[in-house]
Amino acid sequence: MLILGIETSCDETAASIVEDGKIIRSNVVASQLSLHRRFGGVVPELASRAHLQAISPVLEKACQQAGVSLQDLGGIAVTYGPGLIGSLLVGVSVAKSLSYVHNLPFIGINHLEGHIHSASLSHSINPPFVSLIASGGHTSLVFIKGDSDYKLLGATRDDAAGEAYDKVAQLLGLGYPGGPEIDKLAQRGDKDKIRFPRPYLPNSFDFSFSGLKTAVLYYLRDRKKLPVTGFKLRDADYTLPGTGKLSVSEVADIAASFQAAVVDVLVKKSFRAVMETKVKTLVVGGGVTANRGLRKALRDKAEEDKIKVYMPPPDLATDNAAMVAASGYHRIKKGERSNPLTLNAVANLSL
Ligand code: KG4
Ligand code: ZN
Repeated sequence: MLILGIETSCDETAASIVEDGKIIRSNVVASQLSLHRRFGGVVPELASRAHLQAISPVLEKACQQAGVSLQDLGGIAVTYGPGLIGSLLVGVSVAKSLSYVHNLPFIGINHLEGHIHSASLSHSINPPFVSLIASGGHTSLVFIKGDSDYKLLGATRDDAAGEAYDKVAQLLGLGYPGGPEIDKLAQRGDKDKIRFPRPYLPNSFDFSFSGLKTAVLYYLRDRKKLPVTGFKLRDADYTLPGTGKLSVSEVADIAASFQAAVVDVLVKKSFRAVMETKVKTLVVGGGVTANRGLRKALRDKAEEDKIKVYMPPPDLATDNAAMVAASGYHRIKKGERSNPLTLNAVANLSL
C-alpha cells in the first residue's frame, strides 16, 4: 500500500511516498532555512507563505520521483499538530482537498508520533519501548506500550534541546540552525574544558535546558568575551560588557562542553526511563538525534547496558514526510480514518 505523507508543521515543506510503511519511494524536503536565517529563527508568517509557494511543486516532485500518480495511492497522511498554526494549515488543507477529491483514505498524524516512527523506516521495531524525541520544539520521553498506546513520561519545562542548541549557537555568533554548527565545532573542541551544569531534575523525566543556556551566556559575560562574528543579543536581554574576542578553538571548546552537558542529560534520563519501564529498547528521533556526539553516547551506553537503541539516519531524524507516511500506513491499515471535511490543525496537539 502506497501512502502519501505531507508535513508542513514548521519550516520544512515535505512530501513523501512510502510503500507498506517501510520502503521510501520518494522523500522531498523543501527547506526554508535561507529565508529564516537572517532572523536567527523561524518567522511564522514567512513560513506559512513559503509553504503555500512550495507545496504544489513538492507534491509533484514526490509523485514523479516515486513514479506514481494520486490514483495509485492507498491513502494520504498529514501532520495536523503540534506546530505553527499557519504552517500546519497549509499541509492540512491540501491533504484534505486531495483525499476528498480523489476519494482516498485520510488520516491526521501527530508530528511527535512521526518522529517516534522515523527509526522504524529502517528497522523492525516492536513495542514495548521507550522513545526519546529531541527536536527544536520538543524534548520528550514517551513509553510506547503497544501500537498507538502512548504514555508521556516527561517533557521539556522550558527550552527544548534543539532550541538550546540554536540559542547557544546564536550566543557564539554561529549560523542558524545552530545544532549542526555546534555538532561540527564540538568535534574539534575539548568537552572537559568547561563544566557546564547538567540539569537532571532527578525525580522526574522532565527536561529543562534554559539554565544551561544561561550558564553559557554567563560564561561569556564573565570572561568579557565577544564571539568570533556578529554578536546580536537584543538590548532588552542584556548588554555584554566586554570587548574581547573568542578564538575559534575557544568557541570549539565551549561548543563541545555545552554539547557534553546536553548529551549527558539526554542519555542518562533516557536510559533511566528504559530501566524504570523495564523495557529493553530505546528508539530516538527528532533533529537533535542527528547529532554525532549524542549518537555515539547512545550507542556506547546501549552496549554497556545491553539495551537495543534504534536511531533514524540523520536525514530522517530531522523533519520529513516519510515518517508521517509511515505512521499513516499503520493507522490506515488498522482501519482508522480522519474526516477530510472536518479535521483541523491543532497547534498544541499532545500525544
Ligand atoms: O526535528 P526537527 O527537524 O524540527 C522540529 O520538529 O523542531 O529539529 C530541528 C532542531 C533544530 O533546533 C536544530 O538545531 C536541531 O534540531 N538539530 C541538531 C542537529 N541537526 C539539527 N542539533 C544538534 N546536532 C545536530 N546535528
Ligand atoms: Zn520535528
